[in-house]
Amino acid sequence: MAPILEFDALRLAYRARGTVAYAMNDVSLVVGEGEAVGLVGESGSGKSTLARATLGLTPRRIATIESGRILIGGTDVTRFSEDQWQAMRGNPVAMVFQDPLSYLNPVMRVGKQIAESVRAHAPGLAVATRVVELLSLVKLPAAAADAYPHELSGGMRQRALLAVALGCEPKLLVADEPTTALDVTTQAEILALIRELRERLGMALLLISHDLGIVASACDRIYVMYAGHTVEWGATADVFQRPAHPYTVGLLKAAQAARNSEGRFATISGDPPNLSELSPGCPFTPRCPQARAECRESMPAPSPARNAGAQTLRCWAHR
Ligand SMILES: Nc1ncnc2c1ncn2[C@@H]1O[C@H](COP(=O)(O)OP(=O)(O)OP(=O)(O)O)[C@@H](O)[C@H]1O
Ligand SMILES: [Mg+2]
Repeated sequence: MAPILEFDALRLAYRARGTVAYAMNDVSLVVGEGEAVGLVGESGSGKSTLARATLGLTPRRIATIESGRILIGGTDVTRFSEDQWQAMRGNPVAMVFQDPLSYLNPVMRVGKQIAESVRAHAPGLAVATRVVELLSLVKLPAAAADAYPHELSGGMRQRALLAVALGCEPKLLVADEPTTALDVTTQAEILALIRELRERLGMALLLISHDLGIVASACDRIYVMYAGHTVEWGATADVFQRPAHPYTVGLLKAAQAARNSEGRFATISGDPPNLSELSPGCPFTPRCPQARAECRESMPAPSPARNAGAQTLRCWAHR
C-alpha cells in the first residue's frame, strides 16, 4: 500500500509573545492509500496541529516546522508556499472539523458551496447533477441545497461540510473531532456515514478524536500521541486490547473508568507535559509508573512491543 500521507520525525513550534510551544516534537506517522487511521491522545497533545499541518493550515506567522518532513502522495510538502498548498487543499487532501459552521460560508446556500468545490476540482462534470449526487451520498434531502448553513441542524451541517469535502474527490479525508459537538445519536450517524463513504469511495481517512470508542469503531490502525510525540501505533485491536506503552495503558484505564462511573472524568495522575522545553527524554517520564534512568536521557527508537500485540512503540521498558 503506497502511503498517501507521511510525517517523518516532524517538529513544529508555535512562537507567540515570547512563549514557545513544541506542539509537535517528534511525530512520525503513515497513512496508506485507502487506509483508515485513528489518532488519539489527551487534550493538547498536538492532534489538531498535526491535522492542520496536513493541509498547510498552521498559522505561518507563529508556527515553524523546525525539522522533519511531511509528504503527501510522495511529494515533499514541508516547505510549500501558500500557493503550492492551495493546489493540495481539497484534492488530494480534504478536511472536516468539529465546528462546521466556521468552515461553511454563512451567506452562501449549501448547494452553491458544494457546486463551487465540484467546479474547482472536476470542471468537466455536470455540476448540478453532481451536487444532487453528493447530497444524496451524505444522506441530505435535495432541499438542503437551498438552505443557508444556519438553517441546518448540527448533524446536517456536518453532512453539508462532508459533501463540500467530497466534491473535491479527496484521496485522504482528515477529520478532526468531526462528531464531538453532536449528540450521541447524531454522532453515531455521522460516524457510520464516514465509514460508509470511505468504503464506497476508497479514500483514506485520518480520524482524530479523544473518544477511543469512536476511533476503535472506524479505524484499521491507530497512533497514540503524547506531548507532541507519536508513542505507540499498530492495528487498532492490538493497541486497544493489549496496550504496551505506559501512557496508552493509562489512557485506556482512564477511558474505562470514565465509562464505568457517572462521576468525574478519570485522568492519568501527574501534571500535563510542559511543551515549552525541548528535553531529550521521553515526555511521559514524570508521570510514568515504569520510568527508569534512561527515560530522562533519550527517547528510544521505535521497536516491537514485548508481551503485547504486534504494535510498535517508543519505550525503554520494551527494549
Ligand atoms: N495557534 C496557536 N498558537 C500557540 N500555541 C498553540 C496554537 N495552537 C495550538 N497551540 C498549542 O499547541 C499545543 C497542541 O495543541 P493542539 O490543538 O494541537 O492539541 P490537541 O491534541 O488537538 O488538543 P484537543 O484534544 O484539546 O483538541 C497546545 O499546547 C496548544 O496550546
Ligand atoms: Mg484538537
